[in-house]
Amino acid sequence: MAKPAILVSRAVFAEVIDRLTACCAVDYHDADAPLPPDQLAARLAGKQGALSFLTDRIDAAVLAGAPCLKAVCNVAVGYNNFDLPALTQAGVMATNTPRVLDETTADTAWALILATARRVVGADRWVRAGQWQGWKFHDDWLGADVHHATLGILGMGRIGRAVARRATGFSMRVIYHNRTRLDPDLEAGATWVDMTDLLRKADFLVLMVPYSPATHHLIGAAELAAMKPTAHLINVARGGVVDDAALIEALHLCRIAGAGLDVFENEPALDPRFCALDKVVLTPHIGSSTRATRLAMAMLAADNLIAALSGQRPPNLLNPEVLKEKIS
Ligand code: GLV
Repeated sequence: MAKPAILVSRAVFAEVIDRLTACCAVDYHDADAPLPPDQLAARLAGKQGALSFLTDRIDAAVLAGAPCLKAVCNVAVGYNNFDLPALTQAGVMATNTPRVLDETTADTAWALILATARRVVGADRWVRAGQWQGWKFHDDWLGADVHHATLGILGMGRIGRAVARRATGFSMRVIYHNRTRLDPDLEAGATWVDMTDLLRKADFLVLMVPYSPATHHLIGAAELAAMKPTAHLINVARGGVVDDAALIEALHLCRIAGAGLDVFENEPALDPRFCALDKVVLTPHIGSSTRATRLAMAMLAADNLIAALSGQRPPNLLNPEVLKEKIS
């Protein structure tokens, strides 16, 4: 039997390509840049599956040109690059890569908490620039304490809980907000609060909500104004959850003390005003970026794709309605 034709839309580890090649005819876009939308659409035509990335927009227009498509498997836990209703409507299975990146992404949130609180990046630049004239008691780098502070988590899913677990070692108080309160055994000592209290009480507010129309600009001017002037905002979730223009304004006006940002609106074309702000630490969407985790994510996406194309239910199916429709 002929192997199913698939597209791998960006460069990925060789082990993953070897695994896919064993059971699929792979059209490999072996490049670090995403395919432009017209080329993505052209290369999906005639394919039965795709290993996709968060930079690949998969919508009704793309799907209309790819009638043989059975599964699109994202190498990411977030899937706001998918028009999920359009995939479901087209009968195409969609999958993501949950769990394997939880701990690594929580580590990144903590890297940003500590880096913003203790001004690590600015201090490093200053030392390198030869500006350090000697130790001073009233030095230029007075930071904020992380230990015993209040950690606020907006979106207490698996990654949010992994961020919260790490706070124990820093003797922090942990508060969180979710639309629905977690079972007490999942809260692990964290306290549910409403959004107003979360904004008002957090010294470090970590955003962990997925991006969707419902979370677009969830943190805007009003929310930033409700935070403590000493608070730090950490975003390792998605650009668009924060209104970047409002954040820049709030930082300029000292409405909050700082921000650690791994994600931005319009990535990679972030607002250049961020770069002029000493109070922010900026990283290029590297939340899950360790070799082990990125490999685990890509392998999980490959497992999803292989399962879907061999008639099994993929482990991380996002739209099970597609299977129900096939059975009924
Ligand atoms: C990364 O941003 C992911 O969603 O996996």
